[in-house]
Amino acid sequence: MRKPIIAGNWKMFKTRDEALEFVYAVNNNLPSIDKVDSVICAPFTVLRDLVKRQGENLRIGAQNMHFNENGAFTGEISPVMLESLGVSYVIIGHSERRDMFNETDEACSKKLKAAFKHNLTPILCVGEHLQEREDGSWQDLIRGQIIRDLNLLSSDEVEKLVIAYEPIWAIGTGKTATPEIADDTCGFIRTCIKDLYGESVAEKIRIQYGGSVKTSNIEALMAQPNIDGALIGGASLKAEDFITLVKASLK
Ligand code: 13P
Repeated sequence: MRKPIIAGNWKMFKTRDEALEFVYAVNNNLPSIDKVDSVICAPFTVLRDLVKRQGENLRIGAQNMHFNENGAFTGEISPVMLESLGVSYVIIGHSERRDMFNETDEACSKKLKAAFKHNLTPILCVGEHLQEREDGSWQDLIRGQIIRDLNLLSSDEVEKLVIAYEPIWAIGTGKTATPEIADDTCGFIRTCIKDLYGESVAEKIRIQYGGSVKTSNIEALMAQPNIDGALIGGASLKAEDFITLVKASLK
């Protein structure tokens, strides 16, 4: 049995005061980490404050990082820096970074390797645009992302990786993939992992769905056999909703 993982991706939202208010509100209201991993991926500016105040059942993640440990890369944050703050997770290859900041598969593969080296669990985002869903090329696209992005990892690392299937047409649009499409695609990702790394790795790796997940649709998504969790943008910003989303993953 795979433990569910519910992660909020705050994107470029929340000041320090707003982030602190959130963490105080959720801390004592989350189910045990033995049953579900509850994660907030926050802007760099509040990571330290959140890690210091995270309750026993909450973990904090970053939304991006450089693959180098240090160097002349103005404006970048390294895996060593995140590790030193006590951050537990890092999102890699979100479609907003791939599409707006030219993040390549080659960079993602180096970032995944660097994350594991520095004790960060990466959440790798994959997913297609509407065009690729409609013309049927989504399978080739997602398989290609998996092959290229995971190519530096050992099997032991792949089984600890979290993959988030985020169809770009469902992000921030209110247009969620149906539970059937989401499950079918997460199942396809699991089959790709099985072909590349074997059955036991494919059984262990956790695959999330992301894209307009909210309190009203999470239960139907989590009821699907191949969906082990959710990566949630807008609906993760309110403490009360985040608690509801995490609890719904246990039903
Ligand atoms: P929304 O939940 O706002 O659609 O965002 C999804 C997402 O991009 C999470 O990484």
